[in-house]
Amino acid sequence: MSTARFVVAGEVRVPGDKSISHRALICASLATGTSRIRGILRSADVLSTAEVLRALGVAIPELTDDVSIQGVGPAGLRSPGGAADCGNSGTTARLMAGVVAGAGLDVTFTGDASLSRRPMRRVKRPLEAMGASVELPPHGGLPMRVRGTALHDLVWEGEIASAQVKSCILLASLCASVEVTVREPEKSRDHTERMLAAMGAEVWVNDDSVILFAGQTLTAMEIVVPGDPSSASFFAALAALAPAGDLWLRDVGLNDTRTGFLGALRDMGARVDLSGSTMRNGEYVGDLHVLGGEVLRGITVEREAIPRLIDELPLLACVAAYCDGTTTVTGAAELRVKESDRIAAVVGNLSALGADISELEDGFVVRGTRPRLRGTVTTHGDHRLAMAFGILAALPGNEIAIDDRDCVAVSYPTFWADLHRVTANA
Ligand code: S3P
Repeated sequence: MSTARFVVAGEVRVPGDKSISHRALICASLATGTSRIRGILRSADVLSTAEVLRALGVAIPELTDDVSIQGVGPAGLRSPGGAADCGNSGTTARLMAGVVAGAGLDVTFTGDASLSRRPMRRVKRPLEAMGASVELPPHGGLPMRVRGTALHDLVWEGEIASAQVKSCILLASLCASVEVTVREPEKSRDHTERMLAAMGAEVWVNDDSVILFAGQTLTAMEIVVPGDPSSASFFAALAALAPAGDLWLRDVGLNDTRTGFLGALRDMGARVDLSGSTMRNGEYVGDLHVLGGEVLRGITVEREAIPRLIDELPLLACVAAYCDGTTTVTGAAELRVKESDRIAAVVGNLSALGADISELEDGFVVRGTRPRLRGTVTTHGDHRLAMAFGILAALPGNEIAIDDRDCVAVSYPTFWADLHRVTANA
């Protein structure tokens, strides 16, 4: 980096958590009574869930910062006339597949080109094991037709850690009033079980399994959505990389299943402090303070740690280029079936720009060289790639263009404005 005085300062209040926003809409719709949701993320993915719920007969008003939803319960849902379009959102397709199966509906889910390629057999298998019918095209993606009937109890041993699969099964159980046990090789994000419990359902949780008992119903509640730790991670990384970084990130969700990147940044030697953590709607929330100026060092991240930072791995690769030493990530093959093949995309882009990175089947190895990066990033329409490389583009000395800046609308529509604001003094 050429400028010792690169300043990243002030504070950012990142938009609402994407995972919690989807779940707030779904659980509020399935509850009895009127839920009030404040701070919901208004991004393309969450709008897709709202649209699918509307198609199923829930009166979801226009999403604002303070929105009230009258729950209809599983029995109040109806099959839509046409297909349910999930846009780019895997969470919408997989969670709503569970709702549809459990509520006994008949729905065909469609999506954009990226989502249509993503694997849906992972929800077909458990839903069929519960008694639903799920039809997929030969490639196993969308369109996916889900038909629910009377479902039965299930004990599911997942082969991969996936909160979307786990949530699909839990929501099918809730809607069908049957008992499910879901086990995972590593614990995935647990927002669904936390929200179900906060809304009155009897859920039993330990490190690698969840049980949702038969006959649970949800009671409406007031939900205040915390800032998204995945969105906050971009700014935490930027502040840590800036010689004169001093940034506050306000009201960020600090659920332990989501904070792996902040821990990794600390392991690299960055100063990341937490203050004022409180519990809200079953989720920890607090402020983060990140200081730059430290020399960062490479780290090793292995399979057991992956679910807690899965969405931040492209960003981790970008930060690793500015560390001393080597960063190795393994056990992250799931990255290949995200909004893009994130291993191929991050390796292809970082090497083309001038960083030293090699591809592994299930991860990557970055040798930190503090390169001056030049060139154009191909995002493949993937929001997290656009933002990770957006952070590198903000570093002085780099000349990086991004082919599709607008795709950040999927999870963080105001990303570029926030980035501009905190680097305005640079
Ligand atoms: C999500 C779960 C994760 C994550 C995705 C959001 C969720 O996906 O990568 O961005 O809200 O449940 P998987 O369940 O496929 O790991």
